[in-house]
Amino acid sequence: MDKYVIDGGGRLCGSVRLQSAKNSVLPLFAASVLTQERVVIRDAPHISDVACMAQILKELGARVVFRDGDAVIDSADACSHELSSVLTGELRSSVFMLGSLLSRFGRALIAYPGGCDIGLRPIDLHLNALKRLGVSISERDGFIFCEGERLRGAEIELDFPSVGATENILLAAVKAEGRTVISGAAKEPEIVDLQNFLNAMGAKVAGAGTDVIEAEGVRTLHGVVYRPMKDRIEAGTYLIAGAACGGEVETVGVPPENLRLLLHKLRENGCKIHTKNDKIRLESSGRLQCNRRIETMPFPGFPTDLQAQAAALNASCEGSALIVENLFETRFKYVPELQKMGADIVVNGRTALVRGVRTLHGACVTAGDLRGGAALVIAALAAEGVSEVLDLTHTDRGYSGFSEKLKGLGARIRRVRT
Ligand code: EPZ
Repeated sequence: MDKYVIDGGGRLCGSVRLQSAKNSVLPLFAASVLTQERVVIRDAPHISDVACMAQILKELGARVVFRDGDAVIDSADACSHELSSVLTGELRSSVFMLGSLLSRFGRALIAYPGGCDIGLRPIDLHLNALKRLGVSISERDGFIFCEGERLRGAEIELDFPSVGATENILLAAVKAEGRTVISGAAKEPEIVDLQNFLNAMGAKVAGAGTDVIEAEGVRTLHGVVYRPMKDRIEAGTYLIAGAACGGEVETVGVPPENLRLLLHKLRENGCKIHTKNDKIRLESSGRLQCNRRIETMPFPGFPTDLQAQAAALNASCEGSALIVENLFETRFKYVPELQKMGADIVVNGRTALVRGVRTLHGACVTAGDLRGGAALVIAALAAEGVSEVLDLTHTDRGYSGFSEKLKGLGARIRRVRT
């Protein structure tokens, strides 16, 4: 088990080379089985969630090779429609393989993806929508069996703009008979990236980025070479680290409108933010004001995937901040670890009251989930003294070259094998 040893208190300065977006690349891997031709996903991030998704495709019989940073996927020989519980347990987001497997094989058998470290993660919206497309679903002994030889387009109303459910419906609808209209769809930029990818394969999808998406079924999809969007959550994580430590951090490749609410909150903290095309540059004195209130919401609201990082920033700002987590039930598990560093945070259900302290101090802390782990790294970088962050399996899921990129900004951080 590796750990980070971080000597905090230094400023961060420099530009970060961003990875392709984890939450776009994962559905693109799922979509690659919609064709029997070769799919190349450029600059696939070197993170364990992508490796896990590659393993899932290999289990189905596809060939996945990583070459010069690209993922080369040939699924002509894919023949299985069954996903083992090991992999669906490890990667929650494997649930959107349902849509792909149904499109490709007319059936799918996956183990019920369990809850995880940030909440129950039900999939009722996925299953109800698939039924609207003509899929029959039975659940037994923790497995979900879906059958739908002839999927047909339908009007689907989502009660909640679920990202995964929107993606799953699109993966099932692009080759269904007739037209599908998704109302109440998620509007995340990753959905737009999936639409662009599918259309590059010959699909007919329109409306992504709004809450109404239409797909006209086509008979076949062809191969594609595609460069995914850059990771806006990774970018936001480094900008928040720069704010917390003080200094100047620049990200390139994420349009400011994909992080609009975060940039608004960072300005509220007292940071100077300059943007030009897809460049974002943050300047921070390191002595900032707390945000009065941060409420996580579906896009374009404040991203839940940056909530923990924002709490770590506010922990050593002037004043106090109320953080409301509206999307997941238990996304404050990082708080006790921040308290070991001197943070004054009180959690009550879905809200956390953060009272800023002058500075955090180094401590030995343990990551419990992907974004909570990133928050602990940010806190350790801003704290005075040396910290250890244990259990890097979590941050390895979503941040490629995390310690190298931070070192490139001047952070005193080492990855140590224990
Ligand atoms: C995606 O998860 C992201 N993961 C998450 O990022 C992100 O936090 C989330 O969207 C919200 O933006 C990927 O894209 C791989 P949802 P997803 O369906 O699709 C409830 C990260 O850190 N819900 O929009 O699972 C659900 O319980 C990860 O990179 C139902 O009730 O999110 C949650 O409360 C974490 N029934 C809310 O909707 C359903 O059928 C948001 O879930 C589906 C979801």
